[in-house]
Parts: sequence; C-alpha cells; structure tokens
Amino acid sequence: MDLSIIIPSFNERDNIVPIVERIHTALRDEPIRYEIWFVDDSTDDTVDVLSEMEAVDKQVHVYHRDSERGLASAVVAGFARARGEYLIVMDADLQHPPELLPEIYRNLAAGSDIVIPSRFVSGGSDGGLGPLRKLVSWVARVIGQLALRRLRKISDCTSGYFGVNRNVVDGAQLDPIGWKILIEVLVKGRYKTVHEIPYEFLARDAGESKMSMREQWNYFRHLFRLVSQSPADRRFFLFCAIGASGVVVNLVVLSILKYALRVPDTSASIIASLVAMLSNYIWNDQITWRASGQRKWNIKLPLFIGISLVGIALTTLVMDGFRAVGVAVPIGQVIGILVSTVWSYMMNNRLTWKDTQEKVREEVVVTREEGRIRSV
Ligand code: GDD
Ligand code: MN
Repeated sequence: MDLSIIIPSFNERDNIVPIVERIHTALRDEPIRYEIWFVDDSTDDTVDVLSEMEAVDKQVHVYHRDSERGLASAVVAGFARARGEYLIVMDADLQHPPELLPEIYRNLAAGSDIVIPSRFVSGGSDGGLGPLRKLVSWVARVIGQLALRRLRKISDCTSGYFGVNRNVVDGAQLDPIGWKILIEVLVKGRYKTVHEIPYEFLARDAGESKMSMREQWNYFRHLFRLVSQSPADRRFFLFCAIGASGVVVNLVVLSILKYALRVPDTSASIIASLVAMLSNYIWNDQITWRASGQRKWNIKLPLFIGISLVGIALTTLVMDGFRAVGVAVPIGQVIGILVSTVWSYMMNNRLTWKDTQEKVREEVVVTREEGRIRSV
C-alpha cells in the first residue's frame, strides 16, 4: 500500500459521499495504491453512511469509536490502522481540497519527511475562516511557536491537512490532547525535512465547525504538556521561573536588611540583588542546566554574574530607547526585561553551561514552494 488517507469525522453525514468521490477523482490518473480510513466519533447517523460506503468501496475503511472523542486522538488511532507507506491527514468537510493529494504524495515520495499544505506561504489563503477565528488562530500559532522550538520555522503548524512518511510517526509516543495533531507530530516525530506548499483553506459546504472554547483551552494544555516533555524547550521556562523567584528573594532580603538589621538603603539594595543573583545561579545550576555543562563553578559563577550585569544594562538601554520615542517608562522597562531575559538565557546556554562534548545539533530543513493562489 502506497498511501493511507486518514480522515477524522464527527457528525459529517453530508460530506462523506462527496469527499470520497473527490478523492477518487483526484487520484484517478495516478499510479498510487491507496486506502481511505475514516476514524469516526459521530453521534448521529454518519456512521450508517460510512458503513454503506465501506460495504461498496473496497478502498474505504471505517473505525468507529463509541467511547472516545477528540480529533487528534482519532488521527493517532488512524495511524495505527493505516498500512500505507505514506500517510495523509485531512478533514472530512472539504475545507481541505482533495485535489492537492497528488502533489502532497509526490513530495513525500520525492523524500520530504513531512509535507504541509500551508495557508500562510505566498499563494495560500485562509479565506474559509471568519475574522475572529483568524485572529484567535494567529495568536495560538504565535504562542505555540514561542513555546516550542520545532514549530518556529513552520508557517502553518496548526494545519489539519498534512502528509508524513510513516517512519516519522512509527515509534513516536504520540499522546496529544485536543485537536492539533500536527504540533504533536512536529515535536515528537523523527524527521529531517519539511516541505510546505500553498493552498486555499475553503469555506465549509455542509455541516458546521466543531471548534469551541474548550478546544482552545485544550490547545494550551497540549502546549504545556509538550513543553514539559521536551528538555530543550523546558529549559527556557525554568530559567524564567527561577528569574521570577529571584525577584521574591531580592525583596525578602531587602526587607530583612532594612527593617530588621537597619542596614542603609543603598547597601541593602545592592546586597539583596547580589543574594538574588547567587540564588538564581544555584537554582539554574541545579535544575535548569543540571544535565549539561562541565565547567567548574569558579568559571560558571563569574560568567553568570557578568551576563546578568550586562542584562541589567540592556534593560535600561531598551527602556531608554523606548522612552525617547514616547513610550511610558514601565512599559519600556517590561520590554527591556523581556529582551534581557532572552539574551541572558541564550548567553548562559552557550557560555556558562556550554556542553563541552557538544552534541550534533539537530537541524530540520524547511523548504517551501510559493506560488499563485490555487483555487480548486
Ligand atoms: N473523529 C473525530 N472526533 N473527528 C472530529 C472530532 C472528534 O471529536 N471533532 C472534529 N472532528 C473532525 C470534523 O468532523 C472534521 O472532519 C475535522 O475534524 C475538522 O473539524 P472542523 O469542525 O471542521 O474544524 P475547523 O474547520 O473549525 O478547523 C479545521 O481547520 C483548521 C485550519 O486548518 C481543523 O482541521 C483544525 O485542526 C485546523 O487547524
Ligand atoms: Mn472544518
């Protein structure tokens, strides 16, 4: 079997016949042996439509789940049943044009590990969504890309339409929450190359979207879980959390010095900052970078302090810059803190706790084909 097309479906009775027809039409002239797997959680009579289809069409298979729901877990169940060398996931509602299947397949067969039809490379469009959904979807993507390194180069990491070589997901411990199976695959899959092709996300013909507030919430739970499972992504969050704890340490020490020990204000402030810095150093050494770095403390500590001091200067510089163009000081300061946090994280990662036996850095190559809008 060359190709398995996996389609999660939930109450899509009027879309089943049209999508199967359009898939067959799209692949009619291609020398591809393929099967179609519906993973269906419907509570209406979609399953009857599917069963009839399965009875007359040998290429169609149906797996109906009674006790489970969820788009992403449905796709994982489909991966387990599919026999194709390549796997393509698409929605049942024809918002993902089946006419793109041959092109996705060609790219997979030519060696791309993952192929993503994207709404956001030139020539693509997300016209099928309303303005509010577009905004929510944009914010969700940006947060995902900030949190997870492997999503950063991908323009449409929340796409529900994508293809993979089965080696990408075979053996990966896929355990998604909610909808976004692609982020799970991108974070946990084994792959080297991703290729994006433009497409136009169309409006729905029949039935309605099952997207909900609950799914938005699930998305954040899913991101949180992926970050906590991925050592490299987790580090930055530990670093930020420890930085925040340093503020508390700083204020507690300051209060003790000033009110209990009657130390003069300026000295109290400086000592409090030094204690906080030392506390941050110890936590980062013991937790954030526990597994990495072979330098001795008498090299790491001065590096850490130097980087922190430059960070403070950087915060002030950024704040000053923003103040010069009329931005309020506290806002400029917050931006400065963000910049210096990212900067000091990167410097500490590269210098202070640098791995001397540097592992080969995994590099994923992302290519994209840009073109005119394709309407199909
Ligand atoms: N098996 C199963 N179980 N399928 C489900 C479930 C479920 O609990 N919930 C939804 N589906 C199916 C729908 O029947 C449809 O085929 C597909 O998943 C997508 O659901 P829609 O309700 O049509 O979602 P959408 O159009 O709002 O969002 C889609 O497009 C976005 C943009 O590409 C989804 O594909 C998103 O994942 C995607 O980000
Ligand atoms: Mn849809």
